[in-house]
Amino acid sequence: MISKKMAEKLNDQLNKEFFSAYLYLSISASCSSQGFNGASNWFFIQYQEENAHALKLFRYLDDQNVDLDLRTISAPELEGLSFIGAFEASLNHEQKMTRHLNELSDFSFQEKDHATYNFLQWYVTEQVEEEATLNHIIDQIRIVGNDGYGLLTIDKELGTRTFIDPTL
Ligand code: FEO
Repeated sequence: MISKKMAEKLNDQLNKEFFSAYLYLSISASCSSQGFNGASNWFFIQYQEENAHALKLFRYLDDQNVDLDLRTISAPELEGLSFIGAFEASLNHEQKMTRHLNELSDFSFQEKDHATYNFLQWYVTEQVEEEATLNHIIDQIRIVGNDGYGLLTIDKELGTRTFIDPTL
């Protein structure tokens, strides 16, 4: 049993996770159209991960007997992202998600909703890994600068990423 306010906030987060998925799918398409097929693969897997984050919330809300409210997913606004720009925009987005999740975690704690607090710690920890991974990729791209061979080497490495559902 969770409060109405807590349920609303988790429902908002569910929408945000689906938006994240949509954002990364859009970046995947943008990378592909620029010939960065490895980065396109990397972002496609990121899309799948965000979907899994959303579905984990969906199952939790369903288990808590909440009437789900699936809302419109906004269109991502991406104009002319460069290779590094795609990862910088993603890091910026993940930092925002971290702030939202910390606020949610604070709220569940204030409400003494221990089940939800526990549930949210998975997301809070996941954010550390997401930000670290993006920072690492951005550092690598900065090291090679505009060197085409270096960029293609990084792109090739990004192409080796495979999907493993992080919520299982
Ligand atoms: Fe679901 Fe990338 O945060």
